[in-house]
Amino acid sequence: MDTYLETERLALRRFTADDADLLIELDSDPAVMRYLTGGRPTAPEIVRERHIPNILAGYEKWGGDLGLFAAHEKDGGAFIGWFILRPRAEGPLDEVELGYRLRQAAWGNGYATEGSRALLGKAFTELGVRMVWAQTMSVNHGSRNIMEKLDMTLVGTTPTPADMEAIEGSVHGGVRYEITKERWTRQ
Ligand SMILES: CC(C)(COP(=O)(O)OP(=O)(O)OC[C@H]1O[C@@H](n2cnc3c(N)ncnc32)[C@H](O)[C@@H]1OP(=O)(O)O)[C@@H](O)C(=O)NCCC(=O)NCCS
Repeated sequence: MDTYLETERLALRRFTADDADLLIELDSDPAVMRYLTGGRPTAPEIVRERHIPNILAGYEKWGGDLGLFAAHEKDGGAFIGWFILRPRAEGPLDEVELGYRLRQAAWGNGYATEGSRALLGKAFTELGVRMVWAQTMSVNHGSRNIMEKLDMTLVGTTPTPADMEAIEGSVHGGVRYEITKERWTRQ
């Protein structure tokens, strides 16, 4: 396994061209996709033809240090979903987005918090990152809880993109959280 990061219970690794089926299965669960597409699955051909090539191109671009990473339970090796630590396409390398998408079977174990905490540590101590931000729908309480447990600060609200207007709770818009290296270091 091409390990990127280990936590107490999780191993994060880089995706490969053979991982499309894991992503297709993850995105086929309406509960996982609830606040992302309103529950609609991602079409398999989009995963194969767009997502996987983009993920692999990201490793090329950022030397394997940033991008989307598959997460597995160390105990037994089950795929539990992914984490993202990634700059904007043309953005500065020291400002990166944190994100997570886990299989429903893995929810409620503290995995998203555990993986995210380790990613913040790596970002600030190894990768020269100055600020990490995260964004979600205002009503996605699970995701917001993680950001708050990480001591991220709510810095503003974001309008709902037109393609998300049909999603439950979309009238409340989105929220953006940030944490700087300075704040993280003081923890
Ligand atoms: C959001 C998500 C990543 C949470 O993963 P998880 O591993 O269950 O999260 P954790 O166990 O680390 O939980 C973090 C905290 O949020 C709480 N929480 C989790 N889901 C919750 C929910 N739906 N509503 C309210 N609180 C929730 C947990 O109780 C925990 O708080 P606690 O430690 O004080 O009990 C997971 O549900 C998921 O992948 N959802 C689908 C994709 C998604 O919405 N991603 C975010 C898009 S921005």
